[in-house]
Amino acid sequence: MMANNRRNFLKLSGLAGLMGMTGTSMLKSCMQPGDNDASKSKSSHPGLPGEGKQLFNMCGYAAPKLDTVRVGLIGLGNRGILHLGHMLRIKEAQVAAICDIRPEKINAAQASAEKMGQQPATYSGGEYEWKKLCEREDVDLIFICTPWALHTPMAVYAMEQGKHVCVEVPASVTVEQSWQLVETSERTRKYCMMLENVCYGFFELLTLNMARKGVFGDIIHGEAAYIHDLLIANFDKEEYYNMWRLRENAERNGNLYPTHGLGPICQIMNINRGDKMDFLVSVSSNDFMMGAKAKELAAKDAFYKPFVDKPFRGNINTSVIKTSRGRTIMLQHDVTSPRPYSRIDLISGTKGAAMQYPKPAIYLADEHPAADWRKQPPHDWVSPERYKELEKKHSPEIVKKLGDLAARIGGHGGKDFLMNWRTIDCLRNGLPLDQDVYDAALWSAVGSLTEQSVSQGSNPVAVPDFTRGSWNKNKSVDISISGGGTTGVVV
Ligand SMILES: NC(=O)c1ccc[n+]([C@@H]2O[C@H](COP(=O)([O-])OP(=O)(O)OC[C@H]3O[C@@H](n4cnc5c(N)ncnc54)[C@H](O)[C@@H]3O)[C@@H](O)[C@H]2O)c1
Repeated sequence: MMANNRRNFLKLSGLAGLMGMTGTSMLKSCMQPGDNDASKSKSSHPGLPGEGKQLFNMCGYAAPKLDTVRVGLIGLGNRGILHLGHMLRIKEAQVAAICDIRPEKINAAQASAEKMGQQPATYSGGEYEWKKLCEREDVDLIFICTPWALHTPMAVYAMEQGKHVCVEVPASVTVEQSWQLVETSERTRKYCMMLENVCYGFFELLTLNMARKGVFGDIIHGEAAYIHDLLIANFDKEEYYNMWRLRENAERNGNLYPTHGLGPICQIMNINRGDKMDFLVSVSSNDFMMGAKAKELAAKDAFYKPFVDKPFRGNINTSVIKTSRGRTIMLQHDVTSPRPYSRIDLISGTKGAAMQYPKPAIYLADEHPAADWRKQPPHDWVSPERYKELEKKHSPEIVKKLGDLAARIGGHGGKDFLMNWRTIDCLRNGLPLDQDVYDAALWSAVGSLTEQSVSQGSNPVAVPDFTRGSWNKNKSVDISISGGGTTGVVV
């Protein structure tokens, strides 16, 4: 599958039947004798061609313009069907091909495409049909919306076939996979963007813009999370293909889904672009809920018996990351506890702070002067009226121009459409994408690194520098529409 790569360890011919395994166990069973399981490696790159040296810097790289972006989609479950709907509404995107292992998913997707006057080629019914989609001459960009363990093998193959890639979160499930993405993107000069839609949330874009203008001063600390009660969804037989999400949660222990809260904070802190992660420590609670739920369901339905007595992930995982410039990030993951949804989204700097949950809030030091602290104790966020003023003043151009339309079209309140539109607009206008392969590799690898720390009694684990030193000179990201904004939408 990957010519010239000595770590040709993902034998895709071995994928058959592997969907009953977790990401890590699937990978292990795909490895060839003698291959190094770098998911266990603490920090360093395990000996790639060009070891120690970046092959080509994909940060800031602008690929040649495409007038029309011809799109292929793999995986048309909950997520893929949403991306398909968006691609059908973007005027200069053409859906060339779609693939799902389940024929019924293809039928539904084909019907929506036909309604919009498009007739994509279809692939279905076999585990490797997606390779044929990747091999098509008439595809420029491939969306990958399959279970986690398939993301990297599919992304690598697609890039090897000369296609840009948009891959769902997380882009990889091991550190080794992250390196594979980096190496392949650098070698092929194809984009590998992770679809971290939360980077396009209106609050996240507002605070990114404020941070860029220096409103919060030097950023010192961030707090991020994925706290989402998915207990019932994970045990629901109809929700995810072949119970893939439950299987991941049954055997891995750490932060399995780190990127949603983490991505926007990394953008604000210029991680990979002026700062880098240095090390992390991670602690998991015990499992109080998933094993009990498996037993409860198995008592009535034999389907659940294989899940009884699985180790199950500790219900809440808390990690702390330290950066080279001395900043800290607290990161949590909890998808079982009965509590309201939260990504926290706190950033705290030398001049102020902002936090999204439970309610969007901003704090500005110069509006609470220390000299007046008796009269006006500096303990309150700005008033709702002041928040609105700040929002109006600092919302970036992209939100002003497209925010309402994106919210109407939808997908997590508009952030999904904003991301998809912006990605196509960048490809058409020859602009670098907002998230590069180093972001995908790093934000995803944090999951595997937390597993390592948890398994080692919460010891510190070094974070690899996927940019191989270029973090110090890479330019920070600015999500705007300057140089673009030419892509149309069918409303
Ligand atoms: N960014 C977000 O907000 C967000 C939200 C939900 C899910 N996701 C991500 O999207 C991805 C998919 O999640 P989902 O909820 O859509 O899961 P899902 O189970 O509904 O969809 C996965 C699809 O992949 C297909 N598939 C499996 N193996 C395949 C193969 N070999 N070839 C072709 N198709 C194959 C399945 O038939 C299924 O339709 C996950 O990575 C998840 O983390 C992201």
